[in-house]
Parts: sequence; structure tokens; C-alpha cells
Amino acid sequence: TIVPVILSGGSGTRLWPMSRPERPKQFLPLTADETMLQLTVQRATGDRFADPVVVANAQHAEEVETQLAAVGVTPQAIILEPAGRNTAPAIALAALAAPDPEAALLVMPSDHVIADIPAFHAAIKAALPLVNDGWLVTFGIEPDAPEIGYGWIQTGEQIAPGVHRVARFVEKPPLDRAEAMLAAGGHAWNGGIFLFRADMYLGALAAFAPAMLTAVQASIAGARHDGLRLYPDAAAFAASPADSIDYAVMEKAERVAVVPVQMGWNDVGSWDALHAISDLDADGNAHGGEVIALDTSHCLVRSDGIRIAMVGVSDLIVVASGNDVLILPRGRSQEIKKLIEAMKR
Ligand code: GDD
Ligand code: MG
Repeated sequence: TIVPVILSGGSGTRLWPMSRPERPKQFLPLTADETMLQLTVQRATGDRFADPVVVANAQHAEEVETQLAAVGVTPQAIILEPAGRNTAPAIALAALAAPDPEAALLVMPSDHVIADIPAFHAAIKAALPLVNDGWLVTFGIEPDAPEIGYGWIQTGEQIAPGVHRVARFVEKPPLDRAEAMLAAGGHAWNGGIFLFRADMYLGALAAFAPAMLTAVQASIAGARHDGLRLYPDAAAFAASPADSIDYAVMEKAERVAVVPVQMGWNDVGSWDALHAISDLDADGNAHGGEVIALDTSHCLVRSDGIRIAMVGVSDLIVVASGNDVLILPRGRSQEIKKLIEAMKR
């Protein structure tokens, strides 16, 4: 069986004001009645999958437990980080805690949308023989923009039905390089989902990030168990270098493969992205919460509390949460970064 490993440590500022450090994006019901985390656990259930392991920040322990229980999923473990050290150490915790060192781990971000779950499962099935053979497998998304926030994969020769060798993995390239890769063709975005044997991942860390492996091993050796909760030793874990799996392993490892897959993938990285994947009304609006909009078109309007009333506007993003209201024109939601900086000052 495959062990789903769900990464739930991001602090997601790009969907401010709904997403906040206390309640980041993965805990919000953004695209459905279920939260992003709930949708994630639900897409890896069934015969082929073991109960999931969730790796999250310790401050979110109860939120994770409550949200999983609400959809009837019992995790095999919730690993709680004292502080985030990015994805490479988080995955190492799960790999070291796996009861079977050869277990296949399906590493998934907790904040994505996958519309076509059968296509996702078919891609996993195609990858499994190579995974068992020791390959680190990624899932490739067809690119349609020169995104600088993603990993880019140059697709090499086919090595099994539906599976290609990764000729090159480039994490978060500069814009000119992303444009060149898009224009050249033969490239995919890294979907941020990985499938590999626990021992193969740990072997890659031993080769490319030995200090990280040593620190995470020590944190697991000194871990405290509390029911399903596992608390790695805080001081040992803090000593790990912080890095993502993409930079620490995927850019460097040799036997890396990609399964190109069309599965309605979206990482919902901005309010504009959410508008683009939402069901729209006849005027192109996506509303959520208590919203009254007259003569309004092509807007995203959401409130989790106060009532929003608008008339005669178009192409706006309006989001109200708690004491905060965000207003900006559609197309500029990446600029939230600037707002967050300005609010800190
Ligand atoms: N437990 C834990 N601890 N989870 C974490 C941590 C951490 O320290 N840091 C991030 N995560 C979780 C996030 O919640 C998210 O679900 C996932 O790991 C990926 O982290 P991001 O920070 O969102 O990565 P990214 O979006 O910049 O880049 C990754 O995803 C892209 C696709 O969306 C990379 O894998 C890219 O190559 C990829 O294209
Ligand atoms: Mg992300």
C-alpha cells in the first residue's frame, strides 16, 4: 500500500485576509464545502492507500484532528513540528517515522485542487513500478504561463508507459528562463506531489543534505508520543537546515522520473486563481458568504462574517474576514505581498 503524507505547514499569506498564520489556506473551505486539507485526504483513500500521515505545525494539532475527524479519516500519525524548516525536513520526519522503510510515500501539499481524481490515481498507478524500483517520481503539469513560483521539469525519454526520465529539474527559475522553457516546449511544471520509497528519499538526503538528515534523525530519536501525535525533539529539529525538497533533492538526484498528467490541477496561489477555477454566475461573479451585488460583473466577493453590498462595479476582488477588508482589481492579487509588507511597517 501507499502511505499518503500530507504537508500542512505552509502559512499561506497570498490569500490574506482569509488565510492567516493561525488559520492558513489549507484549513479553509475555499473551493468546496470541505477545506483544502479535507479534500486532500479524501483524494488518497481506498484500497491502495494506507491511513495518512499529516505533518503540520504543532500549533495546528487540534485543527488537523478536528478536520480529519469531520470527514471520517483517522490518520496513522500526526507529526507536529515545533517550527517549520520547509518541506525537505518535514518529509524526512515522515520517512523516518514510517514503520516500513520501503513503504511508498505519496507526498502531497495540503492546499491544492485536483478536479480529476481518476486521472490522479491512474498517474500513481503508472508510477508504482518505478517507485518500487527506487525512482523518485514527480507529477508533471502542462505549463501555460512562464510561472516563476513553480518547479520546472525538462521531460526526458520515456522509461515506462506514461513515465519519463527527468532531464532537468529547475526550482523557481527567473522569468527569462521560465519564458524560454515555455517557448521551447518539452517542459512541465512540478505539481508538488511526489511518490517514492521512504528509504530512497532518506538515501538522497544522506547524499545531498547529510546535516539535515542527521538533525531530523536526532529529532525522531528524541520524539515524544502522545496518542497519534508525534512531537519531534524541538532542539534537534531546530538544528536542521531549512530547505525545500525541490532544491535539496529534486534538483540534484539522479533517478528522478515524471508522470505527465492532466488532472485539473491548480495550486490556488492567489485570489485571481480562485476566481479562475470557481463556478461563476451568469455575470461572471464568484460570491461566497453574505454578499449582495447588483449590476456587478466579473468579481470575486467573499465574506466570512460581515455583509458586503455592492452596486455597479466590475472586475474587483473584495474579501472580508474578521476586521479586515481587501479590495483590489482582478489581475493584481499577486500584489498582496506588498500589502503584507506595508502592514508590518
Ligand atoms: N509540514 C510542513 N512543514 N509543511 C510545509 C512546510 C513546513 O515547514 N513548508 C511548506 N509546507 C507545505 C505547504 O503547506 C504546502 O502544502 C506544501 O508544503 C508546499 O509548500 P509551498 O511553500 O507551498 O511550496 P511552493 O508552492 O513554493 O512550491 C512547491 O509547489 C509548487 C506547486 O505548487 C514546489 O514543489 C514547486 O516545485 C511546485 O511547482
Ligand atoms: Mg505552494
